[in-house]
Amino acid sequence: MPEDNMDKPNIVTCTAPVNIAVIKYWGKRNEELILPINSSLSVTLHQDQLKTTTTVATSRSFQEDKIWLNGKEEDITHPRLQSCLREIRRLARKRRNDRGTAVDPTCLSHKVHICSVNNFPTAAGLASSAAGFACLVYSLARVFGVEGELSGIARQGSGSACRSMYGGFVQWIMGQQDDGKDSLAQQVEPETHWPELRILVLVASAERKPIGSTSGMQTSVQTSCLLKYRAESVVPGRMVEMTEAVRRKDFPAFAELAMKDSNQFHATCLDTYPPIFYLNSVSHQVINLVHCYNRHYGETRVAYTFDAGPNAVIFTLQQHVTEFVQVVQHFFPPEINGGQFIKGLQVNHADLSEELKQNIGLEQMPKGISYIISTTAGPGPCVVEDPTQHLLGSDGLPKKTV
Ligand code: DP6
Repeated sequence: MPEDNMDKPNIVTCTAPVNIAVIKYWGKRNEELILPINSSLSVTLHQDQLKTTTTVATSRSFQEDKIWLNGKEEDITHPRLQSCLREIRRLARKRRNDRGTAVDPTCLSHKVHICSVNNFPTAAGLASSAAGFACLVYSLARVFGVEGELSGIARQGSGSACRSMYGGFVQWIMGQQDDGKDSLAQQVEPETHWPELRILVLVASAERKPIGSTSGMQTSVQTSCLLKYRAESVVPGRMVEMTEAVRRKDFPAFAELAMKDSNQFHATCLDTYPPIFYLNSVSHQVINLVHCYNRHYGETRVAYTFDAGPNAVIFTLQQHVTEFVQVVQHFFPPEINGGQFIKGLQVNHADLSEELKQNIGLEQMPKGISYIISTTAGPGPCVVEDPTQHLLGSDGLPKKTV
């Protein structure tokens, strides 16, 4: 490297997606390594609507590792961040020793600056830690020249993050080993597999922040015998059935399993002592709405799933999106002048029949849903080639726009 370039940072920017589990992960058998008590399966959401962007820079001139999240400097000593940094540096060192000098050997001793932003509001209550840790690990791997399996490292940031390392339909195999080496994510089918599948995130106007998943699942593991039964006797069979439903693109089978698994996860939360409530009255109304809608047509056209919060994620097929969005808008009349109600992929307008409205027969809940994000399944993490998109400037500090 020429002398005058020595202090110039080595910069990489990547993006990573959010994922939504249709067979839920809830409970760890090892807290430090983040090893789950059951396998899980998720759909990766499209990054055009929901993504994290992370820039990682290394430079000889940096004094210490630093991180900025959504414009604010955060504590780099957070144990999960440290696990990811340590593991990537360990792999980079191993590669250098195994293969000679594929990586700039000095870069390994350099400090890193990390800057990360989401393209969706944190207030939306969407699991941003999965996309965040997936993006962090993917970007660190690029900057340190590490290739190959990375989901085992993302897992150590946040369990669900390992599934955001792939696009499409992804399973996280729980593994058997105590060291976690076999607890990894794998793609079941790519994002191109089921183009008719559509996803609607119904952002509920939440009153308060629910208990975080990390501590919630700890209490569940300690107190819920339903959770133990679920992990040992229910999820193994469901993983097989769900994988099959995805492979066959069998919407009714996929939808029913997703709803039952979400309901069982929330039942384990109620079985936790003291109980944990993630669903609110809006969530319950969405559940009723979906079942009434399906009953009206005598077939499963729409499914819901809920994570550790009140927002519903709806799955349906392309041909039913327009009508179902109209149904949601009718039963949850949005705030007038409350901004755009439908974000993301365009949804056409349709008039609802009186018969459908009457058959559903539910009370309206004005302003229960703030907005809908319309999306599809999407790809895994990618590198952003355009250097103007870096979130860190050549001085290694966040650009003013971040
Ligand atoms: C309900 O991955 O956020 O969304 O491993 O402690 O970081 P930690 O938990 P996290 O838990 C996600 C729980 C869930 C279900 C799921 O995504 O499978």
